[in-house]
Amino acid sequence: MTRLSTQPTLPLPPGRLGLPAIGESIQYLQDPEGFIAKRQQRYGNIFKTHLFSRPTITLIGADAARFLFANDGQRLEMTNTPSFEVLLGAKSIGVQIGSVHQILRRQLLQAFQPRALENYALTMTEVTHHYLQKWEQIETLTWYDELKKYTLDIACRLFVGVSTTADEQLEKVYETWSSGLLSIPVRFPGSKFDRAVRAREQLLTQFDRLIDQRQQQSTETQDVLSILLVAKDESGKALSREDIKDNILGMLVAGHETLTSALTSLCLLLAQHPAVFKAVRAEQAQLEYPTSFTQDTLKQMTYLEQVLKEVLRILPPVVRSGSRKVLESCEFDGYLIPQGWDVYYQIPETHRDKSIYTQPEQFDPDRFSLKRSEDKQKAFSHIPFGGGIRECLGKEFAKLEMKLFAALLVRNYEWELLPGQNLERIVLPFSRPRDGLKVKFSRQGM
Ligand code: HEM
Repeated sequence: MTRLSTQPTLPLPPGRLGLPAIGESIQYLQDPEGFIAKRQQRYGNIFKTHLFSRPTITLIGADAARFLFANDGQRLEMTNTPSFEVLLGAKSIGVQIGSVHQILRRQLLQAFQPRALENYALTMTEVTHHYLQKWEQIETLTWYDELKKYTLDIACRLFVGVSTTADEQLEKVYETWSSGLLSIPVRFPGSKFDRAVRAREQLLTQFDRLIDQRQQQSTETQDVLSILLVAKDESGKALSREDIKDNILGMLVAGHETLTSALTSLCLLLAQHPAVFKAVRAEQAQLEYPTSFTQDTLKQMTYLEQVLKEVLRILPPVVRSGSRKVLESCEFDGYLIPQGWDVYYQIPETHRDKSIYTQPEQFDPDRFSLKRSEDKQKAFSHIPFGGGIRECLGKEFAKLEMKLFAALLVRNYEWELLPGQNLERIVLPFSRPRDGLKVKFSRQGM
């Protein structure tokens, strides 16, 4: 990549900017996947468009992802929609940039170190058993809705020590807040955005109460909040109360809606591929059933690991990354990336690169076996968690929850898809089947 000053005559990427002001936003929102597919076919892996009032460049493929990650925080910088900025809050990692972002990131990462994760596994196991038993009793369920409750319950317990089964109000307030994230940022009484801002205030008040309780408590609690309350940066400075509250809130949304999508896809793909399901169960049958999952036990589940990687390849929860603003004009692949525009990387199409993956449209966990390791041919071919300085903060937490859930599910339960449902995908804000995955659920052999 070079600066514009050395390449003054570079062309802009191919593509169209659409109508004045609205650009191509309406076509994009009507069918995001079709929008990208058509343009990729017509223009290739890099094209220009105009989305959400911004001239934008879409980047597809491992090389393009590498370009974005390498320049993130230098010539490119994170940018958010106005609703995101207000609802996430000024201290959220999602809106921080530069050294403030990096220092905050290191502090937050203290809550996702291996020792902490091992403790979280105990609570995850307990909550998973509870929900599996509940689903066994219900028998027929819309799994996406149930998994949303399950992942939110785990997140609330492990982030702030509150169970949503005990505090249903928390779930309702959270839903009002998160549904405002994609709303138009106009506040008038009763508007979606206004309700979301009020819900944010309610959630922050609850976090304040929880922090007060923690500070008066003598016994140690092992959750994200307790770790963040004592986390220090390199100069010994602690996080402020505002830092903690905004980031717990951000992690709730980043950490539970993505996982809901990933687990729903896992359940769908296992139902559609009985041979893979059988192989996962066979691997589980060979392992001793532990009362608690240690890193050692989890490491032995190598086939399950391949399956989870393939689920995240073929149906990544995050379809498009956050946008980056171009701070300084630069070049990629012979095209001008102009200052003032936005760029973003597109994950599903990067995962369907035929030069990396054999028959990329097929669900084939063996492509990640030691022998084939298809993704190892080129860095950034498998990017469900993004990469670079903004790689997913909760990646290890997410992988742990997915593995533990899958292991407990496959050992003892089975399910079939109910007929007549729409499995077509909605991809924004997170990928999921249109009817939410309706299944008949039972204990093995019943
Ligand atoms: C399967 C589950 C998950 C997926 C697929 C996923 C995906 C991603 C992706 C693609 C990014 C980068 C976005 C970009 O480059 O614009 C990201 C960032 C982030 N994720 Fe995740 N995520 C998952 C789970 C989690 C969990 C469990 C947490 C919290 C515990 C979390 C917290 C975050 C945060 C805080 C960031 C922003 C990091 C930063 O800006 O430095 N995510 N995630």
